[in-house]
Formats: sequence, structure tokens, C-alpha cells
Amino acid sequence: MATTSIEPSEEKYLHGYSTEEQTRLYKQARFMENKIYSDIDFSMVNNLLEVGCGVGAQSEILLRRYPHLFLTGLDYSDRQIEQAEKYLANIPYATGRYKLQQGNAMDMDFSSQSQFDGAFLCWVLEHIPDPARVLSEVRRVLKPGSPIVITEVLNSSFFVEPYSPSVLQYWMRFNDLQYDMSGDPFVGAKLGNLLQSVGYQRIETKPMTYHLDNRNPAKRAEMIGFWTELLLSGLPQLLEAGYVDEELAEKVKQEMHLVAKSPNAVFFYTFIQAKAYTS
Ligand SMILES: C[S@@+](CC[C@H](N)C(=O)[O-])C[C@H]1O[C@@H](n2cnc3c(N)ncnc32)[C@H](O)[C@@H]1O
Repeated sequence: MATTSIEPSEEKYLHGYSTEEQTRLYKQARFMENKIYSDIDFSMVNNLLEVGCGVGAQSEILLRRYPHLFLTGLDYSDRQIEQAEKYLANIPYATGRYKLQQGNAMDMDFSSQSQFDGAFLCWVLEHIPDPARVLSEVRRVLKPGSPIVITEVLNSSFFVEPYSPSVLQYWMRFNDLQYDMSGDPFVGAKLGNLLQSVGYQRIETKPMTYHLDNRNPAKRAEMIGFWTELLLSGLPQLLEAGYVDEELAEKVKQEMHLVAKSPNAVFFYTFIQAKAYTS
């Protein structure tokens, strides 16, 4: 397949590849595990392709939850692959059950007669300039009748109480930067169209919501802490690109602190999970 005109690069990745960001990915995966995996059945999958495996945070969960499968993880970043190798090497149930490789999801090295009979993508299409092309590539290397499961952001759904105007302003700048880096912070809403456009069958999309309030203060507190880290993960890039200034960043920290302290805080966010099959 011809290479795209917009090549990915490690510099173009909104969250960056710092140690803190790599740690955040492990925390994020474990924190959201029960919701993300509540409706995924890979019991019939033996050779799973994980596109955008990052530091191996989801790979570990997949290998633990589906003890029969072999996982091939693909990521554009050498640094992520290196960290994923280190991480999985220390996990006994992963031994001999995975292969990780560097590569571009828009132009995969795997042959069309590939052995994959399932695919998993989580928080990766949002960073890719041509998500349809990735889905088409995945379809090319899957056997007929194989499932694909995609979990993706829908960043317009984010809300916190008490009202936090600086947080919302910063969040939109965060999304603007992601767009300007050729990503898509709203790609979750488009997964049905994207899957249909490249020929997948039996497409289902499911909004999955965190609506955390006084009914579950512990989970709410954990989410607010986690979300604050997520917001700040983009700060170095946002400052460098001139999308926000230090004053706004300071207000964001103060507002998120107030949200964390508020006795009636509300956190709301919806992401989308899509499932489909190759024909
Ligand atoms: C937010 S991380 C998610 C990692 C993992 N799926 C998880 O949930 O922990 C997105 C990953 O996609 C990778 N990525 C971005 N563009 C890519 C591309 N064109 N091909 C392969 N991987 C890519 C990044 O290097 C990064 O590791």
C-alpha cells in the first residue's frame, strides 16, 4: 500500500512519551478496565492484533482475560514498544504469548493472508490522520468473519460540576491541538460510518458513560484525579504550540482542585465502543 502523505511521528503525539505519560497509560487502563471489557468476548479469538498497543497496558489485560490467545501488538513508537517489552517480560501469564513490533497502522507490514482472527484498538484512532485507512488495513489482515473492537473518545461529552470555565476552555484548546495534529477528539461518534465505509458487517456502537456523583464518591475522586492528570498530560505540547498560557494552566489546576473538594461534585464523560466483523 502506498504511504500516506501525513506520516505519523513521535513528535506529533499529543500526550508525548515521557515516563509520567507511560505510567498514566497503565493507570488509565486499569482504572477503566471493568467498563471497557464488560462487553468484549474474545473467547473465539486465537490470534489477536492489537493496533496502537502503546506501553502494553491493554495487552496485559487482554492476555490475562483471554488466557488462550496469542497477541501481536503494533505501535508506531519505538519507545512505547521498548517499554511494553519490559512490562510484559515480567508478567508470568504473558510468557511466550505475544509479539510486539514497531510499525505504522496506516500501512501495516503484515501480509494479506495473515493469521489474525480478531483485532483490538483502544484510544488510538483519535491520534491518526486517516482512521478509515487503518480500519481498511486491519480488515485486509483479518480472516473472514473476525471481530474488531474499537474503543474511542468523544471529547465533547466531558462535563464537571462545579462549573469550571477555565477547564472547559483548556479542554477545547486541547481538542483543537489534537485536530491540528491531524487527530480527531470526536472520532468515537464516527466509528459506525468509518467501519461501514470500508466494508465491515454487523456493526454495533455503544456509548459508555461515567456519570459519577454522590452515589459513588470514591470512584468520583479517583476519576477527578485521573482526569486532572489527563488534562495536564497535554500541557507541555499546548504551551509549546502557544494554544494555552501558564495563567490558564494555573486556573485549570485551581478549578480541578475545587471540583475535587466539592461535596456535590459531578463528573460526566461518554466514550464509544464499536464492534464489527469482517465479511
Ligand atoms: C493513547 S495511546 C494508547 C495505547 C493503548 N492502546 C492503551 O490504551 O494503553 C495511543 C498509541 O497509539 C500509537 N500510535 C499513534 N499513531 C500510530 C500509528 N499511525 N501507527 C501505530 N501506532 C500509532 C502511539 O504511539 C501510542 O502508543
